[in-house]
Amino acid sequence: MIPKFITLEGGEGSGKSTQVKILSDWLAWSGHSVLKTREPGGTAGAEAIRGLVLGRAGWDPVAEMALHFAARREHWAKTIQPSLDAGSFVVCDRFFDSTLAYQVAGQGASREVWAALRTATLGDAAPDLTLLLDIPVALGLARAGRRGDINRYDTLDRDFHERVRDSFLGQAGAEPHRFAVLDASAPLEAVTQAVISTCRQRLSLP
Ligand code: TYD
Repeated sequence: MIPKFITLEGGEGSGKSTQVKILSDWLAWSGHSVLKTREPGGTAGAEAIRGLVLGRAGWDPVAEMALHFAARREHWAKTIQPSLDAGSFVVCDRFFDSTLAYQVAGQGASREVWAALRTATLGDAAPDLTLLLDIPVALGLARAGRRGDINRYDTLDRDFHERVRDSFLGQAGAEPHRFAVLDASAPLEAVTQAVISTCRQRLSLP
């Protein structure tokens, strides 16, 4: 079995982190070696960059996007690619689709710069499967608010989060072979079932 690179994407309060853990545990239980990781982060350097981007507002838009891709390059080169090469599945909470949704659609950074940074840092590397946990913005923000761990993107206005959601849905529509859109407003067990069955089907897992 060739190991697969699986990413989970979605807006605030979509339950991604919970599903990343459940999916990683399920893959391990099924006998696969698994790396569970997140962005921004996943290596010491990338976690340091996470502190910079989440810790303060007011970045120049290109600088902010470049920081996300610098963290991602570290993560890819030092953790993700070596893990895949060593035969491990990789389950990652967010990847470059988040930068297109948050920095380009949300914050108005240039899509051309996004594409150039993507190519410069990753070449044509991409996830094998991206699960988009889609949830209406009001419901997601209410859930995230109850959870309490608010970061600086969470506090941006409703329109920002609507643009993020529309961007994710547009990306999924443009790349239906890589993306699967799952209804994250459903109860936890139903979302979990959808995550596992989609992985089984799309990645031909037993
Ligand atoms: P995190 O606490 O991990 O939030 P979540 O549980 O919603 O994933 O913080 C990550 C935040 O960083 C999140 O608000 C989305 C944002 N982000 C970007 O703006 N661009 C990116 O490229 C990535 C990976 C994350």
